Amino acid sequence: MSADDATFKNAMRLLAGGVTIVATSLHGEKSGLTATAVCSLALAPSRVLACVNHAGRTYELLSKSRIMSVNLLAEGHEELARRFAAKRATQVEDRFADIVWRSSVTGAPLLADALAALDCRVTDIMPLDTHSILVGVVEDIHFGPRGRPLVHFEGGYTSLLSALSESMT
Ligand SMILES: Cc1cc2nc3c(=O)[nH]c(=O)nc-3n(C[C@H](O)[C@H](O)[C@H](O)COP(=O)(O)O)c2cc1C
Repeated sequence: MSADDATFKNAMRLLAGGVTIVATSLHGEKSGLTATAVCSLALAPSRVLACVNHAGRTYELLSKSRIMSVNLLAEGHEELARRFAAKRATQVEDRFADIVWRSSVTGAPLLADALAALDCRVTDIMPLDTHSILVGVVEDIHFGPRGRPLVHFEGGYTSLLSALSESMT
C-alpha cells in the first residue's frame, strides 16, 4: 500500500527547498530547467545528485552531453525560475536569452549571478520510472554575488526572511 498521490503532493509542498537551474549544452544547443530535487551527495570527489524528468528537452540533452551545471538561485531570481519551469511556447524558444551565462570547464553554461554555480560531469544516470537520478562530479565552482537563496514552499516562491516573518504572525 502507498499514500495517494494528492496527499503525497500536499505533504511535499511543506518541504521548503532551495531552487536551482540545472543546465547543459550539446553541440551549441543549451537547455535547462528549474529543479528543486537536487542535493549534495558526497565528498572526495565532490558529488551532487539531480532528479530529472525524462519527458523534457533538458533530460534528452543531459543524457547525451553528460555535462551539467547546477545553479543556485538567489532572491530576485523568481522570474528566471518561472521561465525555466514554463512550457516552451515554441520549439525554438530560448530560455537563456537576455541573461549573462559564463563559460565553464565542462562546457555546461553557468549562470553568472547564481549564488554558486557548480560545473559537473555526469558519471551515473539511474532511471526510475518517469525520472532519472543523475550523479554529477563537481569539477569547478563559480561563486556569484553574495545574497540570500530563493526558496520554494507551498507551491510558491518566497525568501528566508518572509518565510520567517510569516511563520511568526
Ligand atoms: C519549483 C519547481 C521545481 C521543479 N523541480 C524539478 C525537478 O527537480 N526535476 C524535474 O525534472 N523537473 C522539475 N520541475 C519541472 C521543470 O522545471 C519543468 O517541467 C520544465 O519545463 C522542464 O523543462 P525541459 O523541457 O527543458 O526539460 C520543477 C518545477 C518547479 C516550478
